[in-house]
Amino acid sequence: MLKMFQSYESEKLSLKNRIVMAPMCMYEVEKEDGIVTPFHFTHYGARALGGVGLIIVEASAVTKEGRITKNDVGIWNDDQIPNLKELVEHVHDLGSKIGIQLAHAGRKAQDEPVSYAPSAIAFSEEYQTPQKLNYDEIKETVQKFKKAAERAEKANFDMVEIHAAHGYLLNQFLSPVTNKRDDGYGQNSLADRFCLLKEVVEEVKQSFSKSVWVRISGTDYVENSTTEEEFRQIVAWLKELGIDVLHVSSGGLCNVKPTKVYPGYQTKWATLFKKEIGIPVATVGKLGDPQLASFIIEDEQADFLALGRPLLRNPNWVNEAAIVLNEKSYEPYNHSYKRGMIE
Ligand SMILES: Cc1cc2nc3c(=O)[nH]c(=O)nc-3n(C[C@H](O)[C@H](O)[C@H](O)COP(=O)(O)O)c2cc1C
Repeated sequence: MLKMFQSYESEKLSLKNRIVMAPMCMYEVEKEDGIVTPFHFTHYGARALGGVGLIIVEASAVTKEGRITKNDVGIWNDDQIPNLKELVEHVHDLGSKIGIQLAHAGRKAQDEPVSYAPSAIAFSEEYQTPQKLNYDEIKETVQKFKKAAERAEKANFDMVEIHAAHGYLLNQFLSPVTNKRDDGYGQNSLADRFCLLKEVVEEVKQSFSKSVWVRISGTDYVENSTTEEEFRQIVAWLKELGIDVLHVSSGGLCNVKPTKVYPGYQTKWATLFKKEIGIPVATVGKLGDPQLASFIIEDEQADFLALGRPLLRNPNWVNEAAIVLNEKSYEPYNHSYKRGMIE
């Protein structure tokens, strides 16, 4: 069987295949209370039924003011736990595993009266200038991530992913372009810029007993930002902290587009971190072609294949990929679906 379809076993996570639904904000929480709705049950349930091994629920705010928009999913209070727990059960019943992305938008919070960041520098002219977090507020933010991880544990998620990419709060602290602080969380050294992410990982690991992933960028595409060498060091530190998987993306720090976007354009960083630092990695970014997707996993360029838009377009991507790749031993979740795979 092609490796992409093979099961994955580790101490903290077992999956029926290596295909992951990347976190994608749906902005469907109309009541603005962060609580998942019937939309989310259908949306994630459909991808579970379609055969995805692991679903990562969209960026879920660890504080109210850390939402990107008012319609984000939240994990900042206990009232949000019961529906999340039901969502977990629902996806489990449909044969998939499910995790949640823990996020804080920082200066990219669009709807709040005040946004917060390492330094008072706006994302772009369309965004408000954020308030600089003081020392106590940084410590409180670490605790918010910890509490969110505790809620994820209570909701019985199989993994959590700490969002440190795409220019959100933790990414803002990592970069000298967005972090101009002079304290122990600031620009004086890479270790200082890493300090918030370090503390968040430590607390989340203490509060969540299963698999802990971190989403990080391979590059910010911004001059004078974190260098490739520095990212390597950050990844080495994350490995030392004992994270389970690194999910490698790129961009979003400033209002700058990547120079070149092509199928598999981000995989080179995932492979670099996997080979040089020796950490399991998920790769993402224009990997919807089953041949390319399978090649990346067979060739051991990455351990997990994450799909965003391909799964928005087609919840049955996994079943379709099995047809395209002529993977005869692949079994869909529902045996009647098997008939849909034969002409
Ligand atoms: C509608 C949409 C929402 C997204 N929301 C998130 C998110 O909540 N968290 C995140 O880390 N990335 C988010 N992303 C990025 C995706 O996870 C993924 O990295 C990106 O789409 C590239 O992968 P793809 O080419 O397979 O779509 C989003 C992407 C899309 C299209």
